[in-house]
Amino acid sequence: MVSGSYTCRMILQPTHENIQRAAEVLRNGGVVAVPTETVYGLAARIDQPAAIEEIFRRKGRPRDNPLIVHVAAVEQAYDLTNEHGKQLINAFAARFWPGPLTLVLQASRLVTSYVTAGLDTVAVRMPRHPVFLELINAVGCPVAAPSANISGKPSPTIAEHVETDFGNNVLVLDGGPCEIGLESTVVHVSNGIVHVLRPGVVTAEELATLALDVVEQADSPIVVDVARSPGMKYRHYAPQAHVVLCKTADELRAACQHDIAHTVALVPAYMLEQFSGLQVRALQQQTFYEELRRADALQTRLIVVLCDQSITAQNALYNRIQRASGIEGKGQ
Ligand code: TXA
Ligand code: MG
Repeated sequence: MVSGSYTCRMILQPTHENIQRAAEVLRNGGVVAVPTETVYGLAARIDQPAAIEEIFRRKGRPRDNPLIVHVAAVEQAYDLTNEHGKQLINAFAARFWPGPLTLVLQASRLVTSYVTAGLDTVAVRMPRHPVFLELINAVGCPVAAPSANISGKPSPTIAEHVETDFGNNVLVLDGGPCEIGLESTVVHVSNGIVHVLRPGVVTAEELATLALDVVEQADSPIVVDVARSPGMKYRHYAPQAHVVLCKTADELRAACQHDIAHTVALVPAYMLEQFSGLQVRALQQQTFYEELRRADALQTRLIVVLCDQSITAQNALYNRIQRASGIEGKGQ
């Protein structure tokens, strides 16, 4: 496990030596936080049940919410599934891996129920961050990693967010700010139809280029199949502050008037200049979670989010805004 020498500062630069150090922690049955191109993850080897258990415990994660398994090579993913799963990997990997796309596949015996939360499927992705890929290669084993936040809180997009949630107890490899800032697109394919279980930056339009049918709910950016994607039934990505949505600048001004000192407005970057006298911040995908955390650090009571067409057109971002505000998907 991690020794006392790390207790002062658990955020480490991702040098070759530090990546080897993190690999050793994983080999010894510990957990480490890692950068990915989407959000930071809390990682453990899939063949270390005690470490997987530790992830659930530290996050306060419900036991019925399975973890994503991360691989560094397509062949590593093959071992986690069956023949049909391999064909799906071949179809998707060439176009989307490494990258922010997670495939839900039939699980092989190699994947324990600790990881799948008892389901017969496993979620697999190959991340695009070089530090994480080097770490997976160094441990030589697929690595399970949910987002490295306390369950229900906004996902971490910089190393310091992980430290805020877990204190000095978890070693964090610092890969800088996450390039995407929102979690991966999760899909499940059945009978040749791609079901988007969680929207991400890989869009339905891009998935449709694979000549498969893609199903999303037409009337809502929140695409939820609770039976298939246990994680979507929980309130996610939520700051302490109350989050409300509005559509116009006038609505935003009115909403902020009630308690101007404790209210933060998030608006599309091109509108930033229009709101003098208010605490206004830019609303964009990469920094959305960071802004929620920043507002909480300032003891903000209300976050008003201006969702004009430029925002609602961003399916994944709009989905996370809605979930932060407590607007739930159908059937939840
Ligand atoms: O971008 C990401 O996906 C990040 C980085 C760290 O890779 N990970 C992440 O993990 O967001 P997590 O645990 O916060 O979200 C995983 C989602 C949950 O909604 C979970 O229910 C779903 O994937 N999931 C995992 N295994 C599944 C399975 N076998 N079937 C259906 N959904 C599954
Ligand atoms: Mg998460």
